[in-house]
Amino acid sequence: MECGAMSRLIIISNRVQPPTGEGGGGNQGGLAVALSAALRESSGIWFGWSGETTDQFTGHINLQRAFGVTTATIDLEEQDVDEYYNGYANRTLWPLFHYRMDLAEFESGFAEGYERVNQRFAETLEPLIESDDLVWVHDYHMVPLGQYLRDRGITNRIGFFLHIPWPPYRLLLSLPNHRQLVETLFAYDVVGFQTRDSLDSFRDYVRQEMGGSVAEDGRITVGDRSMMAIHCPIGIDTANFLEATQSTAARYAYYRMRQSSSGREMIIGVDRLDYSKGLEERFLGYERLLQQREDLHGEVFLLQIAPPSRGDVQSYQEIRASLDALSGRINGAYADVEWVPIRYVNRGYPRDRLAGIYRAAKVGLVTPLRDGMNLVAKEYVAAQDPEDPGILILSQFAGAAEQLTQALLINPYSPEDIADAIARALEMPLDERKARWRACMDNIEAEDVLWWRKRFTDALEGVGQSVE
Ligand code: ADP
Ligand code: F6P
Repeated sequence: MECGAMSRLIIISNRVQPPTGEGGGGNQGGLAVALSAALRESSGIWFGWSGETTDQFTGHINLQRAFGVTTATIDLEEQDVDEYYNGYANRTLWPLFHYRMDLAEFESGFAEGYERVNQRFAETLEPLIESDDLVWVHDYHMVPLGQYLRDRGITNRIGFFLHIPWPPYRLLLSLPNHRQLVETLFAYDVVGFQTRDSLDSFRDYVRQEMGGSVAEDGRITVGDRSMMAIHCPIGIDTANFLEATQSTAARYAYYRMRQSSSGREMIIGVDRLDYSKGLEERFLGYERLLQQREDLHGEVFLLQIAPPSRGDVQSYQEIRASLDALSGRINGAYADVEWVPIRYVNRGYPRDRLAGIYRAAKVGLVTPLRDGMNLVAKEYVAAQDPEDPGILILSQFAGAAEQLTQALLINPYSPEDIADAIARALEMPLDERKARWRACMDNIEAEDVLWWRKRFTDALEGVGQSVE
């Protein structure tokens, strides 16, 4: 089959969130934000779960078109959601792939539900695929989908992109049926990872566990099967985000934040409420700063925006409870009648308002213990005033650290590292702030979401160069 520039793009991901127009939605998550940007200008379809449940699965497709993006969604049964989304995706793969074996649960019912739902996606999607379409599957919810489409006779080019980290070889061995899962990846023509680190871990697995080989151009061969595995870091919709930064809503949010800061410097964190984001460690790092630097009391505050996520999963309920307790303890110990050291907010904000809030912060704290990429880091930088930019403090374990090397890179497990970096950022001279910001921004402009889409789809159409 020939794949020309006119190929239609079929994107498949668990969560489908079409653009909501002016300002964008609340707690979207990086994948949804990036995909609606990637699809906006290409004809195509975004297929996935509606987020709704039904008594009996029918495969009925709900088609919608909004702001240039066509979505096709299906409802799942409650048991599907329990076993596939809350179960295998978020209680097995997510913790394991974020190096949290202590939280990973291995139940055969989860694996069965995961396979069943992926089969259901394949069955419903198959009639929508036309012969020239490029099919692009996203994230850990959907690993075996390509194989199930092949089983149904789909011969189109199919790619897979993993938004989260790929774990080290030995860690992956703890997943029951790990080999079966990895083998399904060979149904794809191209498999993409966020970082070189993840690509290396995948290659390690293939070499050591499957006896596979990696060619110079990145092609991986195991027995008589082969595919391209590439490193392809996702970016933000930079031009669009810069526009949002200049919007009335952003300017107003900036002005209101500055007013409510009363001359104090703001440190900001914006994350889904997830244990992978290192929020407890971040609060402890900030507490360490308050212990060490009495002169900063009343002079700084931390605004942590953390909308709840995956609330049906126990580990998420636990992290929420412990953050409530920790923020309460720190505020209890240090607050006075005119100053609260942590403003802790559990809700989402429209993108343009968020842009204004980022801009008002002197320091951006992005300290995940492990993260595929972390788009908040890039948004924070993009929102800054070039003449007086704030400083990004970034975990060395976020995928973004491979690109934003001029951020202040820290070890998120170390409260001391976090405290020192905040102090350093607050005192950093303007020249150094500008130079670091420029270096980060160069990358964010050059490697934006459109660059990412092109890099991946070029590889999928076979026109990409070697993309080590
Ligand atoms: P993840 O995909 O794990 O949630 P990312 O940092 O890659 O992490 O992406 C998060 C996305 O969700 C960003 O685009 C960010 O702006 C958005 N987001 C996170 N928290 C909020 C919030 N409170 N309000 C609005 N958007 C949010
Ligand atoms: O980017 C990683 C990711 O897991 C996406 O796949 C997902 O849509 C997003 O985070 C938010 O999570 P959820 O869809 O479970 O709310």
